Amino acid sequence: EAAEKAGFEHFMMKEIYEQPKAIRDTLNSVVKDGVIDFTDIDITEEEIKKYSQIYIVACGSAWHVGVEAQYVIEELAQIPVRVELASEFRYREMPLVKDGLVIVISQSGETADTLAAMRMAKDKGLATLAVVNVIGSSIAREADKVFYTLAGPEISVATTKGYSAQLVALDCIAVQFAKVKGLITDEQYSYYISELQTIPEKIEKILQDKERIQWFAAKYANAHDVFFVGRGVDYAVCLEGSLKLKEISYIHSEAYAAGELKHGTISLIEDNILVIGVLTQSKLYEKTVSNMMECKSRGAYLMGVTNYGNYEMEDKVDFTVYVPKVDEHFMGSLAVIPLQLLGYYVSVAKGLDVDKPRNLAKSVTVE
Ligand code: G6P
Repeated sequence: EAAEKAGFEHFMMKEIYEQPKAIRDTLNSVVKDGVIDFTDIDITEEEIKKYSQIYIVACGSAWHVGVEAQYVIEELAQIPVRVELASEFRYREMPLVKDGLVIVISQSGETADTLAAMRMAKDKGLATLAVVNVIGSSIAREADKVFYTLAGPEISVATTKGYSAQLVALDCIAVQFAKVKGLITDEQYSYYISELQTIPEKIEKILQDKERIQWFAAKYANAHDVFFVGRGVDYAVCLEGSLKLKEISYIHSEAYAAGELKHGTISLIEDNILVIGVLTQSKLYEKTVSNMMECKSRGAYLMGVTNYGNYEMEDKVDFTVYVPKVDEHFMGSLAVIPLQLLGYYVSVAKGLDVDKPRNLAKSVTVE
């Protein structure tokens, strides 16, 4: 096992470091000569033009990818998206749009609820596209179309590279659908693709600074509650950051769309509670800052994750983590990295089993 960890103490950290490669390989599998080519996935332009609704169905972190992709697909490709938890979707009697596309996202391709939800959608006559990491898995075999993420085998229960590869796969879908529908120019198309291609090196840069997060994690290892707040894409990042922290460090944490704090959660904010804000969306930046200030005035300790350039953040929050800039639709791929590291280092500081957290399984093949 030591050999498999390639010098890392845990699989999770090894896989965090494999993210640039996972993303690069996944992008390279569909980007040919600077354009996205879905021939291997077998999605035609006629089909793309026909889809009037997208349903994204998944569990866990894959569902978080769906939440993030919803913002990106709706904004770029102007197709309404519903993101559904597979365990809910499969039992719900909802009218489905006949020319809708069901995108199921699953690292393992074996999650029982996701598989059942996909079968249900197929039975109702909808087209299915699976974004899957494991070749030949049940979901990959049964889906109409498959977009393989090339993250390689993921061992750690808490997903990192699987998640990151899924995210760029969904970004490619958003960009390609926007192009085929004539919603973006050739220049914008090339710009989005080249921005996606910068993500791996930017992640490498974030990882160089990991000791700062390690230091911060040691301070907060004894926290009982942590809140993550953000808006838009940043809210989706919060969902994932919160799950990473709670699943491996056993600290209660919740992610909130920042504007929802005032509808209940703010009553839980008291002295020294850690509130982590993710602020990468310029349109929403001031709004989230003001929500964080409301927490600060009630005693919260604030950590902010934002992009380089937003240096005034340091006047507002107690601990700031900067990530490089990429087109704002894709910022989630960068903002999530410090949060993965935070979950990892808190778990390590507490002496927990990082790769195999209690009660959890890598692949949930039961209902
Ligand atoms: C488990 C894993 C999660 C994963 C979820 C969905 O809960 O621990 O990391 O996100 O299953 O798995 P899938 O293989 O369908 O992506």
